[in-house]
Amino acid sequence: MTEILVIGGAGYIGSHMVKLLHQWGFGVVVLDDLSSGFRDSVRNAELIISPVADSNLLNSLFARHQFSAVMHFASFIQVGESMKEPDKYYANNLVSTLTLLDAMRKADISCFIFSSTAAVYGNPDYVPIDENHPKLPINPYGRSKWMVEQVLQDYDIAYGLKSICLRYFNAAGADPEGELGERHAPETHLIPLVLQTTSGRRKYISIFGSDYDTPDGTCIRDYIHVSDLCDAHLLALQHLLNGSKSARFNLGNGQGFSVMEVIETARRVTGYEIAVRHEPRRMGDPPRLVADSRLVREVLGWKPQRADLATIIADAWAWERKYPWGNGITIPPASTSLRNIE
Ligand code: UFG
Repeated sequence: MTEILVIGGAGYIGSHMVKLLHQWGFGVVVLDDLSSGFRDSVRNAELIISPVADSNLLNSLFARHQFSAVMHFASFIQVGESMKEPDKYYANNLVSTLTLLDAMRKADISCFIFSSTAAVYGNPDYVPIDENHPKLPINPYGRSKWMVEQVLQDYDIAYGLKSICLRYFNAAGADPEGELGERHAPETHLIPLVLQTTSGRRKYISIFGSDYDTPDGTCIRDYIHVSDLCDAHLLALQHLLNGSKSARFNLGNGQGFSVMEVIETARRVTGYEIAVRHEPRRMGDPPRLVADSRLVREVLGWKPQRADLATIIADAWAWERKYPWGNGITIPPASTSLRNIE
């Protein structure tokens, strides 16, 4: 059985990936420090609870298993926090990854799938953004990811370490079978926060900035379903395991939606009113981020199956209703907590 190590497999995207790998017959080991992941999100895989940067643990893990590839999902992802605590971002996102790559080299593991981000591009000169767009990240989070990408280019040339960097735009949605979903704490992402408002866990959704140079004044993003994202990882893995060369791909649907459009779609999908509050702009938000993802379609044959925003939101909504997790909060039944607009 082909064995894969998934770092950060207890987190949002990582846990969906573990499920997909298991369905495809891979043996999976998860390494996660549970700083933001959840033990019960890991099914059908051995879970090792440890920081990534423990080289002794990595060496013994690599001695015990014959991993064909490593997939690395574990990183800190909050742009605002990265501005205030850059040390945390460079230590975890960059230095820990270097430790991991060292251990991989010692163990002769030469396939690596890396979770990168649209944040490597900074404020775009043009949209949709293709992979050749200049990389000028505007915050430590984006810079830490871009640094790893550059390290990987050098390691490929010098050590033959093959990698695929996947630059995510806005990952959203949940496992269509309802077993897994987004559980960030604190949650900062738009779609889950909108749905927490719908379910009564929040009183309103803040709209950060209504004066951008966009048709309705709110920021535009390219939302991609977590299942489609994982499908792309699987194709990337197969690509490397087949001996193909290193690559970098954008992952988005190529269609942008404003914050207002997301809220409107959530109203339509759920059938409930959603209270909004207009607030000042959030620092570091580019007005418009939309992916040109033609390359991943051409090279890997990726075809998103759940690209429609309403489908993304419907899956996230099913998860929000099913899992009233979080500090013991129990969502009251819909009939008592929600005001139906119909
Ligand atoms: N937004 C609101 N209200 C909220 C939360 C978000 O108006 O309560 C707005 C944001 O200002 C932004 C849009 O909704 O305009 C999307 O915000 P998210 O926080 O959901 O996502 P981001 O686009 O900020 O972040 C995503 C990834 C990051 C990554 C970044 C790259 O989640 O990890 O893209 O630019 F760094």
